[in-house]
Amino acid sequence: MSKVVVTGKIPKPGLDILRRGGHDVQVWDSEDQQPRDQLLEQVAGADAILSLLTEKVDGELLDAAGEQLKVVANVAVGYNNVDVEACRERGVIATNTPGVLTDATADIAMSLILMTTRRLGEGERIIRSETPWQWGMFYLLGSGLQRKTLGIVGLGAIGAATARRARAFGMNIIYSSRSQAPRELETELGAHRVDMDTLLAESDVLSLHCPYTPATHHLLSTEQFAAMKETAHVVNTARGAVIDEAALVEALKGGQIAGAGLDVFEEEPAVHPGLLECENAVLLPHLGSATIETRTAMATLAADNAVAVLAGQDAPNPVT
Ligand code: DGY
Repeated sequence: MSKVVVTGKIPKPGLDILRRGGHDVQVWDSEDQQPRDQLLEQVAGADAILSLLTEKVDGELLDAAGEQLKVVANVAVGYNNVDVEACRERGVIATNTPGVLTDATADIAMSLILMTTRRLGEGERIIRSETPWQWGMFYLLGSGLQRKTLGIVGLGAIGAATARRARAFGMNIIYSSRSQAPRELETELGAHRVDMDTLLAESDVLSLHCPYTPATHHLLSTEQFAAMKETAHVVNTARGAVIDEAALVEALKGGQIAGAGLDVFEEEPAVHPGLLECENAVLLPHLGSATIETRTAMATLAADNAVAVLAGQDAPNPVT
């Protein structure tokens, strides 16, 4: 019987898959993070670990598990919390959950595009704080999306799904990516690839969909905000540290850009205090994949990955 450690609460269908395999499934059944020292003890002897994105899966954790550990199945598409090299060195297969959260995350990106350009957060705060207001010709004017340009950083599945939504709102699409997107996708989206300088200069809304890696750390900082239109908005549903938050606060306060919509933060769950002072920032608590259907699909896909490796088969979604 294999020991499977699940580092946090996940939807039951994911656990059912693990239990059906006859494994000894041990779950930290809480929304609060398990204290690290307890986790290090619990993983001892584990053959598989299902990790949530809030868990740091590093050499220390892998060594605490032991040499029999075969697979780390991250319950997320982003896997910057997993030290992939450390897994590789120990012969541990790491997997993620691509595909199943594309639409949910693109929905949140599109919501943030609308919220920031139409100043919906500000409007909501006015009503909720019982601030006096009345309809006015020039009251709380935002900017429309039609015929505006959406710049996508990283035209993968989520970037493309966001672009599709934005097209329905009448936006034109440009993108910057490590590689050229397939011709059919470019044609479908009417999108063309540009360099980062052009993307910054031409985007009315810039939406981030790249993975967080050393190369994308603080991809947007003071210099990049200065290169953008003063009317531009930035949206981030990828990972917080792709943006230099302190520089973003300066850009929002100084009028270098018009607004930002953020679902992710550099030091989650902490939010840069300056952002809280910015009326022109819409702030969401990492809700990209937060639908019942999506979280269930993420849990079952992660479980499928773990079960496959434990059965000696190829993992459906390896990242190592
Ligand atoms: C992911 O899977 O990487 C998402 O950020 C989860 O919400």
